[in-house]
Amino acid sequence: MTALTAQLSNHIGAIFKNQGLPEELGAVRTSDRPDLAQFQCNGAMAAAKIAKKAPRMIAEAIVAELQNDPLFSEVSIAGPGFINLKLTEEALSNHLLELGNSPSFLVPDSGQGKCAIVDYGGPNTAKPMHVGHLRSSIIGESVKRTLKFIGYDAKGDIHLGDWGTHMGMVISEFEIRHPEWVYFDENKVDDYPSEPPVTIKDLEKLYPEASQASKSNEDRMAISRKATADLQNKRPGYYALWQHCFNISVEAMKKNFGALDVYFDLWLGESNAQDYIPDMAQKMQDDGHAIKDRGAIVIHVQQDTDKKEYPPLILYKSDGAVMYGTTDLATIVQRVEDFDPVKMVYVVDQRQHLHFEQVFRAARITKIIKDDVEMIHAGFGTMNGQDGTPFKTRAGGVMKLQDLIKMGIEKATLRIEEANIGESYSAEERADIAHKVAIAAIKFADLQNSRIADYIFDLDRLTSFEGKTGPYILYQAVRMKSLLRKAEDQGFPVHAPSTIELGDHETQIALILTEFPSVIEQAAQNYTPHVLADYAYRLAQAYSSFYSHCPVLGETDEELRQSRLYITGLALRLLEQSLDLLGIPTPERM
Ligand code: ARG
Repeated sequence: MTALTAQLSNHIGAIFKNQGLPEELGAVRTSDRPDLAQFQCNGAMAAAKIAKKAPRMIAEAIVAELQNDPLFSEVSIAGPGFINLKLTEEALSNHLLELGNSPSFLVPDSGQGKCAIVDYGGPNTAKPMHVGHLRSSIIGESVKRTLKFIGYDAKGDIHLGDWGTHMGMVISEFEIRHPEWVYFDENKVDDYPSEPPVTIKDLEKLYPEASQASKSNEDRMAISRKATADLQNKRPGYYALWQHCFNISVEAMKKNFGALDVYFDLWLGESNAQDYIPDMAQKMQDDGHAIKDRGAIVIHVQQDTDKKEYPPLILYKSDGAVMYGTTDLATIVQRVEDFDPVKMVYVVDQRQHLHFEQVFRAARITKIIKDDVEMIHAGFGTMNGQDGTPFKTRAGGVMKLQDLIKMGIEKATLRIEEANIGESYSAEERADIAHKVAIAAIKFADLQNSRIADYIFDLDRLTSFEGKTGPYILYQAVRMKSLLRKAEDQGFPVHAPSTIELGDHETQIALILTEFPSVIEQAAQNYTPHVLADYAYRLAQAYSSFYSHCPVLGETDEELRQSRLYITGLALRLLEQSLDLLGIPTPERM
C-alpha cells in the first residue's frame, strides 16, 4: 500500500479514465485550503483543454460518479473546476490503522537492491574542523538516512581532503622545526615509531602557521610544493609522518562528528583515489577525450547549448601535478569499481557548483560512469552570523566546530535550568538532555532552511523551547512519551482499536499523520531535508493543539480514550522517525 494521496489519486484517476480522460489527471493532493477541503484534484482544468469542454462540466461529471462513494463524505466543486474532497471518518480511520501497521509507514522501498553514495563532511586532515563543515555534515547525514529509509544501500563517504598542498605545508614545517626527526633521515626507509610525535592540538596550531609562512614567502611555498610532490611519490619518512597526522586528525574528527550524531560508512579520502589516476588518465588520453593543451592535459566540457563558458577540467597541470577534479574523477572510478552505485550525491557548498558540473560532464564524456548513473550536486548556502556575513568567533576568526558544539551545550544547559527541566534527575541525565537539546537546536536551525538558501545562525533564538526550533519539537515528542508512559502505568497500553474515533481535532492531526510517506518521498527525491523538518514542526504543532483540546488519560469514554492514545502513539512514532531521519535523537524525558 502507498501514501494516502497516492491511493486517492488512483481512485480518482480511474474515474477520469472512465470518462475517456488521461488517468494521471486524477492526481489528488492535500488541499491548499484546509479550511475548505481536505484534498483537492485540479485535473479538470487540464482535461478541459483535451476534451474541449468547460472545466466545470468535466468536474461535474467526475463528481457525479463520486456521489455514493464510501471513501468521501463531501465532494464539491470550487471556482472554475477544482474538485474538493473530504474523507469519511471510516476511510480516514482505516487508513490510519494501515499506516500504523506498516513497519515502513507505507513508504515504498524504491531503493531496494541499489547502492547510493553520499559524499559529505569533506574535512581536511591537519586543519581544524570549523563551522564551514557543519552544513555539509548535517545535511549529508540526513540525506543518507533518508535514502537508507527508502531502501537504498546508502553509504556515507567522508571524502577527506588528505592529499593536497596543505599536507606538504605541514610536513615541510615539521622538517624546518625538527630536522633531527627520523622521518627526515633520507637513509631510513622503515621502522618508524608507532606513536605520533605530536598531538592534534600541536597540529591544529601548526597548520595555520605553516600556511601563513608558505603564502607570504615564495621560497617557503616552493619547499611546501616540493614536500607535497615527495609525499605524493610516497617518500617513506614523509609518508609515515603523514600517516600519523592522518590518524590523529581522524580521531579528532570522529569525536566531533560523534558529538553531532553524524556517522560515516566509509572513511575514504583523496589519498585513496590516487592509485586510480595513472590508468584512468592514460585511458582518457588513448580514447582522445583528454588532450594536451599548452602543456597541460585537459578534458573539454563545453557544450554547444551552453549559454556561459565552462572551462576545461584540468587532469594534469603543465608541471605534472594532479588537481581537485582529477581526484574527484578517480574517486568516481573507485566507487564504480567497489560499489557499482546507481547514484552519487555530493553534499558540498554551492560555491563549488562549477567544479561539480565540470567533473560530472567529464565523467560522462569519458564514460567512466554508465549513462544511467545519476550524479547530483546537492549544494548548500552559507551559515551567516547575525551581521549577515559568514559566521565567525567574537574575535572575528573562524569558529571551530568543537567550540560551536560547546557553546550550544552551554546555552542548552542554561535553557533547561530556566525551564526547571529535570531538577530531580541525575547530573548525568541532565547532561545527556542538554547535549540532545543542543544537537536538536543546531541541526534543526540548519535543516529547516531550504538547502540552497543562506541562513542566519542565532544561538539564542534556536535554543528556545518556543517557535520553530529543535528544542520545541523535542519537547513535544517527550510530552507524548510521558503521556504514553503514564497510560501504561494506569493500565491503558496503546493498542489498535477497531476504528478510530475522529472528531475535528483528531482529524486535523490525523491528516498530518497521513502525509508522512509523501513527505519522505519528496525529501528523498530532491535531497531536501527541509521538507522533513517542516513536517516534524507541523506535526509537533498539531499534537500540541490536539493535546490542549482533547483530554487523553482523563477521558472516561473508553473508545475515545483508546483512539486518542492510538493517535498519540502514532504521532510519536512518526515524529521520532522524522527526527531520526534529520539526525536528531530524542531524550526519553525532559
Ligand atoms: N575537502 C573539500 C573542501 O574542503 C570538500 C570535498 C567535497 N567532496 C568532493 N568529492 N569533492 O572543500
